[in-house]
Amino acid sequence: MRTVMLFVSLLLTATIAQAAPPAPPLDFRQLVEMPDLPRSLMRADMQDHLVALNEIIGYLAENNLAAAGETAEKRMGQSTMGKHAAIARGQGPGRFMPETMQQMGWNMHDSATEFAKVAKSGDRAKAFASLQQLTSSCVACHMSFRTR
Ligand code: HEC
Repeated sequence: MRTVMLFVSLLLTATIAQAAPPAPPLDFRQLVEMPDLPRSLMRADMQDHLVALNEIIGYLAENNLAAAGETAEKRMGQSTMGKHAAIARGQGPGRFMPETMQQMGWNMHDSATEFAKVAKSGDRAKAFASLQQLTSSCVACHMSFRTR
């Protein structure tokens, strides 16, 4: 009888455990809080980075390295830094980032400008290697920080 009870209680525990929702995956990223304006400026930038990246890959596939480089510089390069100054008036996303995150942001702009230079030189293999430096800068920040 005791064995049967034990079996029933084990079965019940197993059923309850199955019914409980699975734990969501852990998120180790650091939360960076920002007011709505800088956060939405950053989101708009991010969306455009992704679109630009997609265009760059398309240009590389067509062997149009000049256009790939130009897109990188115009949309993500050093020349785009501070482009929100007029709207943000000192409340740009960079101001709310911890130093490491800022550094990762600058690193992204530098990598985009470096890619633009390499692409201009016309060496496709080097351009791909340099593009991966750029995407690594996206990955580094995404794996470290979140804003919500
Ligand atoms: C300095 C840090 C940093 C860098 C560099 C960076 N990102 Fe982000 N990105 C973020 C953060 C933080 C978020 C918001 C994630 C969150 O809060 O869940 C984000 C969100 C996004 C999103 C989602 C936007 C949405 O729809 O909400 C996309 C797409 C994106 N990034 C693309 C990119 C690409 C592509 C690159 C590289 C070219 C890049 N990011 C580089 C920090 C960065």
